[in-house]
Amino acid sequence: MSLRINDIAPDFTAETTQGTIHFHDWIGSGWAVLFSHPKNFTPVCTTELGAMAGLEGEFRKRGVKIIGISVDPVESHGKWKDDIKTATGFDVEYPLIGDRDLKIAKLYDMLPAGAGESSEGRTPADNATVRSVYVIGPDKKIKLILTYPMTTGRNFNEILRAIDSIQLTAKHQVATPANWQQGEDVIITAAVSNEDAITRFGSFDTVLPYLRKTKQPTA
Ligand code: BEZ
Repeated sequence: MSLRINDIAPDFTAETTQGTIHFHDWIGSGWAVLFSHPKNFTPVCTTELGAMAGLEGEFRKRGVKIIGISVDPVESHGKWKDDIKTATGFDVEYPLIGDRDLKIAKLYDMLPAGAGESSEGRTPADNATVRSVYVIGPDKKIKLILTYPMTTGRNFNEILRAIDSIQLTAKHQVATPANWQQGEDVIITAAVSNEDAITRFGSFDTVLPYLRKTKQPTA
């Protein structure tokens, strides 16, 4: 059965560019993003890993660790980093998992339909991981899942935006509207009565009986 939001993110032990890690211990008490790419030394992946390296400080500010994964060996990840730096200007300082036996790829459903059983003799079209993203909370539960096809590079600013929303809405009884950005008005959830909304948020606008907006809570 595939993983769903609110499932506990499966724990695993893996070889990475920063040594062996035990995933849940590595996450610790903060947040994590686990993201897969199809194959080292390919164009879209090179831009993606560089983009994540450029955003690592933004993730850190939000208490989020990032970790990449593909079925390439750890030694290959190490060699590829120079190309990523050349192409994007960013050093990959976050760990990269070498999932040679596809153990984690299978655990997290990162393989496309028709994938093979090992990474030997593979082509990007068969048993490479697709472009998956898992956001995991301090409770080790999955908060967000995203899957993109091979030919489409991801917008990692969207992952940051979603994390801003997820962290805010975990703290306050609000939701965030389409295309919301940090600092913009938020939606008061249905569980909050109008009376309670005044106490919690001071004031709000009733756009529709079921759509009430207020300023983003700051505390
Ligand atoms: C790429 O990163 O460019 C790529 C990787 C695997 C399949 C297709 C494209």
